Amino acid sequence: MADSITITDNRTGEQVEVPIIDGGVDGTTWAKFMPGIWFHDPSFGSTSGAASSVTELDGENGILRYRGYPIEQLAEHSSYLEVAYLLIHGDLPTATQFEDWRYEITHHTFIHENVRKRFMDGFHHDAHPMGMLVSTVAALSTFYPEAKDIEDPEVLQKQIVRLIAKMPTLAAGAYRHSVGMPFVYPDNSLDFAANFLSMMWKTAEPRYDANPVLARALDVLFILHADHEQNCSTTAMRTVGSSHADPYIATAAATAALYGPRHGGANEAVIRMLTQIGSIDQVQPYVDAVKRGETRLQGFGHRVYKNYDPRARIIKQTADQVFEVTGKSPLLDIALKLEEVALNDDYFVSRKLYPNVDFYSGLIYQAMGFPMQMFTVLFAIPRTAGWLAHYRELLEQGSRIYRPRQIYTGHPVREFAPIEHR
Ligand code: CMC
Repeated sequence: MADSITITDNRTGEQVEVPIIDGGVDGTTWAKFMPGIWFHDPSFGSTSGAASSVTELDGENGILRYRGYPIEQLAEHSSYLEVAYLLIHGDLPTATQFEDWRYEITHHTFIHENVRKRFMDGFHHDAHPMGMLVSTVAALSTFYPEAKDIEDPEVLQKQIVRLIAKMPTLAAGAYRHSVGMPFVYPDNSLDFAANFLSMMWKTAEPRYDANPVLARALDVLFILHADHEQNCSTTAMRTVGSSHADPYIATAAATAALYGPRHGGANEAVIRMLTQIGSIDQVQPYVDAVKRGETRLQGFGHRVYKNYDPRARIIKQTADQVFEVTGKSPLLDIALKLEEVALNDDYFVSRKLYPNVDFYSGLIYQAMGFPMQMFTVLFAIPRTAGWLAHYRELLEQGSRIYRPRQIYTGHPVREFAPIEHR
């Protein structure tokens, strides 16, 4: 049987055979055959917008792989910096390549003093750190005007290094500003996650050494969040990148997309939900309210996963390690009960709603002392590597500018009426 689909235009009886390639049918063949008739798929539920070799996600079977490597193996054996290299370059680094990469990233963690003094200090004291992050990432574009030269691979690589390196500095700077604490400069003697924790928490001590269990847990969370193929923020990155905006501006757009509670903001929503539920005996009434459509179970469900999110499984183990150091979160028992009730309830089973990455990550962040407003920022730091891998891939593919069609549902043509006649 041919690996193709035949489309018949019932108005004319004309037929066209469209080949199925890599599991998809080519939209341009359709467009040639049916000019002016568009696939209507407003939230891209059945549209492939990219051919990508970065991340493989099989939502039916709960599989996630970066460049072919299972997420479970990377979380167990790798580090965020190594994973960032893998995403950007396509292969794991050799020892020498990794040492060069680590050196490069470490030596680009500082931000221009004006970013801190003029931009960050200018924000209101209660500014949301995601708003600060979006704005300051965009502002970096004005500090590195050469970044516009996206055709030059060396120039582009430099901006990739800068962005991966500076995100934690901007993120911690946003936090320090919000609590009125002085900015902490990066410490080049620390590794990626430990340096971030130092910039977050350091007070008067000459060197801040994070608890190694907590630093490793954060690094694992960074690995799990580093990429997730064509999600909302990556699509924003690719869309803006397709106009050939520089990588800082495109990353700011992706960070903005991540901000929303349906995407990276869900971990914050989970903690608010668990706090609102308050006790184990209130779990069932809350689940009943969800089933009546009055609210949603935050941290549950996913557009692509119709099975347990493999990242949630790893995060659950990481949570146990963190709680051994920090003490158990009082909200954990409510979360475990909520998961148990939902996974045994036909409403959730029939809709294939399982815990996603955000269900337990907020509990870990909270136990480590991060305020809720920082949770999405903690997602943005590692996702920067994924966004940039997609941005570079898009440029290498010579992508056309993203420009979907629309189905027009407004008024037919009408005559303009002067204001006194309306
Ligand atoms: N609680 C209760 N019902 C739900 C939920 C939920 N969390 N998610 C989906 N449903 C129901 C929904 O009401 C619909 O039911 P029906 O068929 O009766 O109308 C059905 O399941 C299908 O849902 P959908 O809204 O069509 O699914 P979607 O693919 O458009 O939305 C989602 C995906 C993640 C936005 C959604 O599941 C949701 O709002 N989840 C809670 C927020 C959340 O945890 N977001 C983090 C996602 S993972 C991290 C990331 O990638 O950023």
